[in-house]
Amino acid sequence: MCGIVGYVGPTQNGTASDVVMEGLARLEYRGYDSAGIATLDGDTVAIRKRSGKLINLRAEIDAHPLPPTTTAIGHTRWATHGGPTDNNAHPHRGGFDGRLALIHNGIIENFHSLKTRLVDTGVSFSSETDTEVAAHLVAAAYERTGDLTEAMRAAVAHLEGAFTLLAIHADQPGVVVGARRNSPLVVGLGEGANYLGSDVAAFIGHTREAMELGQDQIVTITPTSVSVIGFDGTPAEGKAYHVDWDAAAAEKGGFPSFMEKEIQDQPHAVGDTLLGRTDAQGRLMLDELRISEESLREVTKIVIIACGTSSYAGMVAKYAIEHWTRIPCEVELAHEFRYRDPVVDQRTLVISLSQSGETMDTLMAVKHANELGALTVAICNTHGSTIPRESDAVLYTHAGPEIAVASTKAFVAQITACYLLGLYLAQLRGGAGAGQVQQVMRDLHDIPAKIETVLGRMDRVREIARFMADTRSVLFLGRHVGFPIALEGALKLKEIAYIHAEGFAAGELKHGPIALIEPGQPVFVIVPSPQTPHDLHAKVVSNIQEIRARGARTLVIAHDGDDDVVPFADEVIRVPECPPLLAPLLTIVPLQVFACELASAKGLDVDQPRNLAKSVTVE
Ligand code: M6R
Repeated sequence: MCGIVGYVGPTQNGTASDVVMEGLARLEYRGYDSAGIATLDGDTVAIRKRSGKLINLRAEIDAHPLPPTTTAIGHTRWATHGGPTDNNAHPHRGGFDGRLALIHNGIIENFHSLKTRLVDTGVSFSSETDTEVAAHLVAAAYERTGDLTEAMRAAVAHLEGAFTLLAIHADQPGVVVGARRNSPLVVGLGEGANYLGSDVAAFIGHTREAMELGQDQIVTITPTSVSVIGFDGTPAEGKAYHVDWDAAAAEKGGFPSFMEKEIQDQPHAVGDTLLGRTDAQGRLMLDELRISEESLREVTKIVIIACGTSSYAGMVAKYAIEHWTRIPCEVELAHEFRYRDPVVDQRTLVISLSQSGETMDTLMAVKHANELGALTVAICNTHGSTIPRESDAVLYTHAGPEIAVASTKAFVAQITACYLLGLYLAQLRGGAGAGQVQQVMRDLHDIPAKIETVLGRMDRVREIARFMADTRSVLFLGRHVGFPIALEGALKLKEIAYIHAEGFAAGELKHGPIALIEPGQPVFVIVPSPQTPHDLHAKVVSNIQEIRARGARTLVIAHDGDDDVVPFADEVIRVPECPPLLAPLLTIVPLQVFACELASAKGLDVDQPRNLAKSVTVE
C-alpha cells in the first residue's frame, strides 16, 4: 500500500524529480489512487500531485514543469484516510509557511486526537488524511530544533500505528529524512547519490546496493552520506546487501502485462527456488534456516499463516507436509490467527508465507507467534523485508520481483519452498517421509519443464477465455490439493476480471453449492491425478457427471492419459502426468492464463486491478 521514493544527488543525469518519477513508475503497483512529488525550488518546496494513476501526475508536471533540483520525494497512494482526491494526494505540506513536505505509508492510529490538538493551536488542515498531522508535527518540531532529523525524531514520539515517513525541508537542500515503524523502507546506496524506497524497485535502475533498516529507525540521506539512528536517538547501523536482480527483471520485457510475463516466468521461479538446496549426496541443505536441527526435531505442531494467494499456497503445502513429516499442520489466515487465542508453544513451528514480506496482517501474526514463544520461519520473496526480520529464520523464494498485483509466480515458488521445508523436516526426523526425500526432489526438479509444457498448450484456454468475456459467474471445484487450486483460480478471476467466482471442495458439492448449477453455468474442475489415493479421481469424475447432468458447462483440467473425464467434459485442458502432491504446480497455470486473458479481453488493467494494491501494509 503506497509507494515511497526519496532521492538526493547531482542534477547532471536528469534532475531529482526525473529519478523520483522513474521510481514511482516502478512502485505504482503498490497503490494507484493518486501520485505526487515534492522537490526543492530555491528556498521553497514545489509540489505537484494528482488523483488517479501516475499518468495524471505526468501530465500535470508537463503542464507545470518542476525546476532542476538535487532533492525530491514522491508518493503513489492507496487511499486509507480520505478519498482519492487531489487534495488528499501526498506530499502534504507542514507548518504555517509550508516549507516542509512529507509523504507517508501506513496508518497513524491516533491522528484524530493529534489533529484536534493541532487545530486548537491554530493549525489549519487542507486534507482529510492522517498524514497531514505528521507533516505539521515534524514542521513544528523543526521550528524548535532547526534540524530535520531531530524534528522527525521528536514527531514520531507522538505517533501510534504503522508508518514510513519521508520529509524534506526548504532550509535543508540535499537532505531527505525517513522514519519507519512496522512499514517498509530501504536505502539505495549510490555514488554521489542516495535513495530511499518502499522497496528496491524504487531505485533498481540506478543501484543494486541496498541497506535494510531496522524497526523504529530514522535515516538521513545526503548525496554522500547515510546515517541511521533509533527513535531513542542512539546511533544504529543498517545492514547492506546486494540486490540479485536488475532493472530488466522489473520491466515487461515485451509482454503485454507484468502478469503475463510473470506467468511465463514460473518455470524459472520454481527452478531458482530449488537451486542449490541439495548436497552431492542428494541430501537437502537449508543453510539459511538459523533454527537448530534439535529444535526442529522437537516440533510437535506446525501452523502456516498467510493471506490471500499465499494462504492457498499454505493450504496446498499442508497436504504434503503432514504426509511427509506426520506433524499436525494447520493453515490459518494471519488476521484470524492474530486475534484469537491459538494453542501455540515453544514446540510449535509457525511458518509465515508472504511474497512481499510486508503484509501487515501476516506481520502482526508473526509477532504474536513470537510472543507466544513459537519458532517462526518466514517463506518470503522479498529480501530485506520486515517479516523475515521479525522471524527466527527465513527461507527465501527466488521468484524475482513480482509486479502484477495478482500473484502468480510467487505462488508456485511458495509451494516449492514449503515442500523443501517439509522434506527437510522429514529428513531430520527420519521415518517413512525421510525415505521419500530424494525421489520427491527428483520429481520437483522435473516441474519447471512440465510447467513449460503446460504454458505451450494454452492457445485453447485463451480462446475459451475470450469467448467467455461476458460471463457473469464461474465456479471452480477441486479436491485434495486441487481444492486450494480451485480457491486460487476463483481469486484470480475475481481480482483481475471482476467476475463473481467461487471455489469449492468437490466433496462439498452435494452439501449446498450444487444448487448454484443451472444450464450453461461454467465450472472448472481440477481433477486429481489418477494416482491419488482413496480413489479420489473416480469421485471427482462422478462430480463432473453430477454437475453436467444439471446443465453445467464443464471445463476440466486433467492429466495426460486420463481418458475417464472425456465423456463428461465440454473442454479438457491437459497437464503432464505428475505425482499427486506436486500437481498444483501445474494445474494452477491454466487458471492463471484464463483469468489474465479474460481480463484483457474485457479491456481491464490486468496489472493494476481496481481497489487493490500489491502490498497490503495496513491491517
Ligand atoms: O505479499 P503477500 O504474499 O503477503 O500478500 C498476500 C496477499 O495480499 C496476496 O497474495 C493477494 O491475495 C494477491 N493479490 C493475490 O493475487
